[in-house]
Amino acid sequence: MVKKYIIKKGKEYWPSPEMKKIAWIKDEKIYAKANKNPVKFWEELALEGITWEKKWDKAYVEKLPYFEWFKGGKLNFSVNCLDRHLKEFGDKVALIWIPEPTGEKVVKFTYKQLHKKVCKFANVLKGNGVKKGDVVSIYLPMIPEALISMLACTRIGAIHSVVFSAFSAEALKARIEDGKAKVLVTSDGYYRKGEKEDLLSKAEQAAKGTTIKKIIVVNRINKEHKYINYKKEMEKASASCVPEIMNSEDMMFILYTSGTTGKPKGVIHDTGGYAVYAYWTAKWNFNLQEDDVFWCTADVGWITGHTYSFYAPLLNHSTTLVYEGGPDFPDLGRWWKIIQENKVSVLYTAPTAIRMFMRANGKFIKKYDLNSLKILGSVGEPIDKEAWMWYFNEIGKKRCPIIDTWWQTETGGTLINSLPGIGPFVPTVAGKSFPGINHIIIDKNGKEIKEKNKIGFLVQTSPFAPGMLHGVYKNEKKYIETYWRFKKYYDSSDGAFYTDDNLIRITGRTDDVMKVAGHLLSTAELENAINEHVNINECAVVPIPDKIKGEVPIAFAILKRGEGSWALEKEIKSFIDKKIGPTARPAKTYFVKALPKTRSGKIMRRILKALLVGEEPKGLSTLLNPKSVDEIKKMIGDSKKI
Ligand code: PRX
Repeated sequence: MVKKYIIKKGKEYWPSPEMKKIAWIKDEKIYAKANKNPVKFWEELALEGITWEKKWDKAYVEKLPYFEWFKGGKLNFSVNCLDRHLKEFGDKVALIWIPEPTGEKVVKFTYKQLHKKVCKFANVLKGNGVKKGDVVSIYLPMIPEALISMLACTRIGAIHSVVFSAFSAEALKARIEDGKAKVLVTSDGYYRKGEKEDLLSKAEQAAKGTTIKKIIVVNRINKEHKYINYKKEMEKASASCVPEIMNSEDMMFILYTSGTTGKPKGVIHDTGGYAVYAYWTAKWNFNLQEDDVFWCTADVGWITGHTYSFYAPLLNHSTTLVYEGGPDFPDLGRWWKIIQENKVSVLYTAPTAIRMFMRANGKFIKKYDLNSLKILGSVGEPIDKEAWMWYFNEIGKKRCPIIDTWWQTETGGTLINSLPGIGPFVPTVAGKSFPGINHIIIDKNGKEIKEKNKIGFLVQTSPFAPGMLHGVYKNEKKYIETYWRFKKYYDSSDGAFYTDDNLIRITGRTDDVMKVAGHLLSTAELENAINEHVNINECAVVPIPDKIKGEVPIAFAILKRGEGSWALEKEIKSFIDKKIGPTARPAKTYFVKALPKTRSGKIMRRILKALLVGEEPKGLSTLLNPKSVDEIKKMIGDSKKI
């Protein structure tokens, strides 16, 4: 019989008795218990969830803006993902990999097989000069070798820095240079929408003139090259590799995220705290059980891909599913076919994907049996009510809770959401802080807002979650400026309010950062890139709402000479593809004579945004050039007529 994991009580959805029966956490008292002594709470979880070589001396040390978890504790991360499971779960499938081409065979790795590959590649890295503490750049698509290389780094104590494969050569170069990596692991290409996509030429171009001494290439599309061949190296390598024992606070990886200035920030994550947090958030949010197949659709280039596509399911000796390609190849039924064929029990995806399917023809979904699903997750941006209801009705078939997880690259794991055995599951509402951590909402002076429905800044209070960042790579100033403006609180840069039921609802970013199809992009990063175009004198970028992508960037550019044209607009799009990547493409560029500025020269993006969404802009009297607003208003009006 098909099981139902939720029930409706009043307007809200709650866990059904069926869910209560299987839930790890079903008693709300856990929140109060954890809050009484959060450090003790995390100590107990750390001991239960993670295998340590040596227990810590001090569970939590805080000297703001820095804090450390499990200080003095020693462990190896790959041992926690693999070795410790071998005895009992060695033959269990750790990874199901679905290649995009439909004729190609699905590949399954048991824990034993994955362990062997990771040990071998760890030796390959060593053989190519990688030592403990070195940074390794990984520029790979969603293929098993991405997971293998990352775990291999953790085995030998190297720091991985994964760069999203759709990023441009220049974006990769900047990240290689920041981390001073000597080795780059990449592939010749990958499959996307039925086509072979080249990756190696971008990698090659990026590595030129940097610290990269060696490029290791995974063959995916059989392109000839002169670099180190992954497969050949693996054939030669020994399958035995003694794990490097690391300190809990040692840096495990760097992951770059957009900030309010042009340069991406290298967010630093440690080993022990991250492991504990990834383990427990996955286990409780998704109620991972022995026979579950967990599918997080996020690409490894993002934190969700790191933590939930790869690491957390393995820490939990679960089975994770990874799909290489596009959601619409060969048609929009692909995801649902994957769920049916692999009996996926947890699907964790982003609102942008949900909205895309929602607008497509439902027949692609109806063909497939989705009854294996137990829990649905959402991440990356606010999920609107329409998308929530569609996801709930059409994918969950009114049987599955939606766990709307709010978190960030900086936090390593989820922070605010309802737990499946506790609920409630309310459209657009994230829920409560995970047990053992705490968020409050404050005003700009740092004063706590306790009233319901009043928007303020969402901040985290001490003790900070074990998965939190440990700084910005080689940029302390940026770390302090970005996250610690409220001194004793971690500033998320998101706005939020309490609902009538005292749950947290996220309202979105409070800084100049936008979310395009779930990807964080800063206004400044895009503006800097456009400004580098030879024809552009100055520009401003603002996001506007988009039905599928959530937000899209719109550019306003002043030319050095001549007139704007369709051709130039198109050229700017491909210029951005080259500088950052296609996700950052402006949906439209307006070529204007002037940008609205204050007397001190600050571009008033707020005014541009108001004009774009058809609102009356406020504060024109403070402008240096109020006339610019009329010109832009007319231009937007004219373009809407076309
Ligand atoms: O604005 C919030 C939004 O995404 C930002 C973090 O983006 P990133 O570092 O790329 O990490 C994305 C994956 C965790 C947040 O500051 N965000 C993320 N999840 C949600 C969300 N906004 C609303 N609801 C969410 N569930």
